[in-house]
Amino acid sequence: MELFSERRSADVVAASFAATPDPRLRDVLTALVRHLHAFVKEVELTEEEWSAAIGFLTRTGQQCDDVRQEFVLLSDVLGVSMLVETINHRTGGASTESTVLGPFHMVESPPRELGDTIALDGKGEPCLITGQVTGPGGEPLPGAQVDVWQANADGFYDVQQPGVQPELNLRGLFTADEDGRFWFRTIVPRYYPIPDDGPVGELLAATGRHPNRPAHVHFIVTAPGHRPVTTHLFVDDSPYLDSDAVFGVKESLVRSFPVVDDARRAAEAGLPNPFRTVHFDVALLRE
Ligand code: BEZ
Ligand code: FE
Repeated sequence: MELFSERRSADVVAASFAATPDPRLRDVLTALVRHLHAFVKEVELTEEEWSAAIGFLTRTGQQCDDVRQEFVLLSDVLGVSMLVETINHRTGGASTESTVLGPFHMVESPPRELGDTIALDGKGEPCLITGQVTGPGGEPLPGAQVDVWQANADGFYDVQQPGVQPELNLRGLFTADEDGRFWFRTIVPRYYPIPDDGPVGELLAATGRHPNRPAHVHFIVTAPGHRPVTTHLFVDDSPYLDSDAVFGVKESLVRSFPVVDDARRAAEAGLPNPFRTVHFDVALLRE
């Protein structure tokens, strides 16, 4: 084996993986080593910096438990989650774009009937969300499953406020009708900060970045024979649309939520007048 040298470091270490039986693992490790060594050389990493990085990663691991995944959060704020998501769900313009799942889909959404409200405590600005699930050619997908969850008007998910919000507040699993249409009542969500009391928060503070995400409703939409999509519907008048802490915003997912002031339509929707409304169609690619 060639001995280690500064000039040939990446080649020497990459060669140690040459006999890896799994060719994909070998390629990934070889590329990782090449990029890591190039990075260390480019910034001429000091021993203090390397030790600080090891400390940071150690604390990141220590922050993880059954409900907190600090490594995913780190990947989120470095834009890696969005890059992996985007590379693996290229749409070619034919389907709804995807975005990050996030950590708050930690409980199963309760099945609800079309038209039901998911705002169990009724607090917030009432809103009617409608849409249609189609295939890539616009053909309706009857019976598509539409799983939604969102933060409340104060920017908190139910799981962050046990005892304050009712259990399963602002979550629902809907089955689209025979035309692939869905509709439900909710409230307009607020922007909120990602968990920033751990190492990822330190990183954001040290770099002068804020922890906020713009207001959004999460969707996972599935239909037999089609590729599921994990995405968000963003509120177009929310702060932080142009500086999402996790880079999750895609232009095609932003919608306006106009106010409707019409007592007849409010009664039809089962909402107080006035209310906000938004239409969000979701197109899925074939499997
Ligand atoms: C969310 O939208 O729920 C989320 C996404 C990434 C990190 C934290 C929260
Ligand atoms: Fe969210």
